[in-house]
Amino acid sequence: MKTVEQSLSSHFAELALPVLSEARVQEMDKFIQHGTTTTLDHVVSVAWEALVLARRYHINCDEHALVRGALLHDYYLYDWHDHTSCPTRWHGFVHPSIALRKAECDFDLSGCERDLIAHHMWPLTPVPPHYIEGWLVCLADKTVSLRETIGAKIFSTSNSEVIS
Ligand SMILES: [Fe+2]
Ligand SMILES: [Fe+2]
Repeated sequence: MKTVEQSLSSHFAELALPVLSEARVQEMDKFIQHGTTTTLDHVVSVAWEALVLARRYHINCDEHALVRGALLHDYYLYDWHDHTSCPTRWHGFVHPSIALRKAECDFDLSGCERDLIAHHMWPLTPVPPHYIEGWLVCLADKTVSLRETIGAKIFSTSNSEVIS
């Protein structure tokens, strides 16, 4: 018999695989998001976290849009640390609209998915999400980003202590 976590994992895989099997989505694996985490690993963690949050707090939402939108929320496809490939000095503020433009070229997006991508950086960008799915991704993104950043810092500190 499957545990609750196992059946949620298979449900997540069913929702995520059609997006993850796209070649351009796999390009996110070439770029670093935070610390040593690639953008692809970051968006998968955010999508999983958002789905777990929805289930844990019994939030009724469109899980298909939640997972698809979360997987595409950072679909800007460049390394924001590299000033030669990053098209803007204002990455934090403008990457949601760059990600949305690129996602719209490659996918048929629902209104909820578009809104989620466009407003996931709230409150850094002034307009908050208009759908519950967007709020879940906004929260999951911040939680996962913090974990990735702090994890990287702890790792680099312990590493330098080992080296010195
Ligand atoms: Fe982002
Ligand atoms: Fe993100």
